[in-house]
Amino acid sequence: MNMPKALIIYQSKTGNTEAMAEAVEAGVKKEGLEVIRKRIEDASLDDLLEPEAIIIGTPTYFGATTAEVKKFIDESIKHFGKLEGKVGAAFASSGDLGGGNETAILDILRAFLVHGMIIQGYTSGGHYGPVSVGAPSGERKKVCIEFGAKVARLVKRLHGR
Ligand SMILES: Cc1cc2nc3c(=O)[nH]c(=O)nc-3n(C[C@H](O)[C@H](O)[C@H](O)COP(=O)(O)O)c2cc1C
Repeated sequence: MNMPKALIIYQSKTGNTEAMAEAVEAGVKKEGLEVIRKRIEDASLDDLLEPEAIIIGTPTYFGATTAEVKKFIDESIKHFGKLEGKVGAAFASSGDLGGGNETAILDILRAFLVHGMIIQGYTSGGHYGPVSVGAPSGERKKVCIEFGAKVARLVKRLHGR
């Protein structure tokens, strides 16, 4: 039986969210899941169908996701009903502490809930998902890795691994 797959989609103009995405990927892989990591420009809506987990990362723009991430979410209506039961998680970078990285994450998690997905929370390091102000420090990368592994363990539990 193949290992479950996780899809990581993110936007990053100046590299901060991308560095987080790489660390989340490392954490997911630590638990043995297959990972497909794509910049949002390269992702297609059909990429959402196969993976057992979907993780989206966004820079914070005006306290929310970027327009591109929101557009992708809106267009995911194409697969409404087909994402139910998949695991969802999100992470965000921002320019400021209190600059809205948590609200940006919640934009994504709300959409996942509307899709009937299962959300992984976090007792430390960012309750809604990993956050970073600017480029992730070593400590922030560790949080991303731990969170990625946590998401992967949930997927494995759900799939009897
Ligand atoms: C159009 C725009 C809007 C932004 N709005 C916010 C904001 O509301 N709050 C904040 O903390 N940072 C804001 N930022 C800063 C980015 O969230 C931050 O630089 C982020 O780390 C960029 O991620 P990236 O390097 O992956 O592109 C904004 C940046 C841009 C370009």
